[in-house]
Amino acid sequence: MQGTPFNPISPQELDISNLFIAILIIAGVIFALVVFLVLYPAVRYRHRPGADEPYQEFGRPKLEIAWTVAPAVLLAIVFGFTVTTMRAADPSTGDHPPDLTVIGHQWWWEMRYTTGGVTANELHLPVGRRMLLQLDSADVIHNFWVPQLGRKLDMVPGHTSRLWVEPTQTGTFLGACAEYCGTEHAWMRLRVIVQPPAEFDAWQRQQTQTSVSPTSGDAAQGAMLFQQVTCASCHAIAGTNANAQVGPDLTHFGGRDTIAAGVLDNTPQNLTTWLKDPQAVKPGNHMPNLQLTDSQIRDLVAYLEAQK
Ligand code: CUA
Repeated sequence: MQGTPFNPISPQELDISNLFIAILIIAGVIFALVVFLVLYPAVRYRHRPGADEPYQEFGRPKLEIAWTVAPAVLLAIVFGFTVTTMRAADPSTGDHPPDLTVIGHQWWWEMRYTTGGVTANELHLPVGRRMLLQLDSADVIHNFWVPQLGRKLDMVPGHTSRLWVEPTQTGTFLGACAEYCGTEHAWMRLRVIVQPPAEFDAWQRQQTQTSVSPTSGDAAQGAMLFQQVTCASCHAIAGTNANAQVGPDLTHFGGRDTIAAGVLDNTPQNLTTWLKDPQAVKPGNHMPNLQLTDSQIRDLVAYLEAQK
């Protein structure tokens, strides 16, 4: 059950998963008991031809006390489990500074690492290290949810939330926005890439590098076009004049797995399709159709895919 809370990759999610399973078992036993208590008497004491009215009993205090107290005790136990799990799954963040900020946008994710590096739609984390995420929103309410990693948390405009994450397995894990946030809510996907610490550190160091401007070929043409057509009014590429923050930062675009928050795999062919008509690929998204010519698109694709 990859991608579900039943396959936890962090101690926090393990606690949540265990609580869910415990409550499921308790609820299952009660359900079976209730079904039995309804069906058994209904069959065993059913009306038979010629039988008299059965004996009518009014009130049996001991029984009534028992069926009031038993559920109350059970609820108290479930409450205790829940509070314990909440504390374990969502430890206090105190005034610890966040390791990175995740910002929800319509309809993509921005990740800003405190020690440098900005990326989109991919959350890179080192395995075995506790990281504090700060969750913000740029527009409407979104919800950060990576089922295998931990609890869901709303991203509310103007209100900062914090969440500890501590992945214990390397690999790629999927998440999504879990609060309806407009037309493309369903295409607000998130990848969590958990790496060995050395690999993560190398990745992060690389993310803080500025772009190397290509000097020849299609890519050099693309670099010029990027500044001239309207790309640079919404997107940033570190080390160039493009520094707008409306759309995703594209400094290391070529190193990402997907385009447009998971709609397409990041390949030159798919980027071509996207640039030709972003609205056809992800209707309603905030990137307009720039009416680029085929040769402009070829140059931009060469430039962007080279930004590793
Ligand atoms: Cu963002 Cu739903």
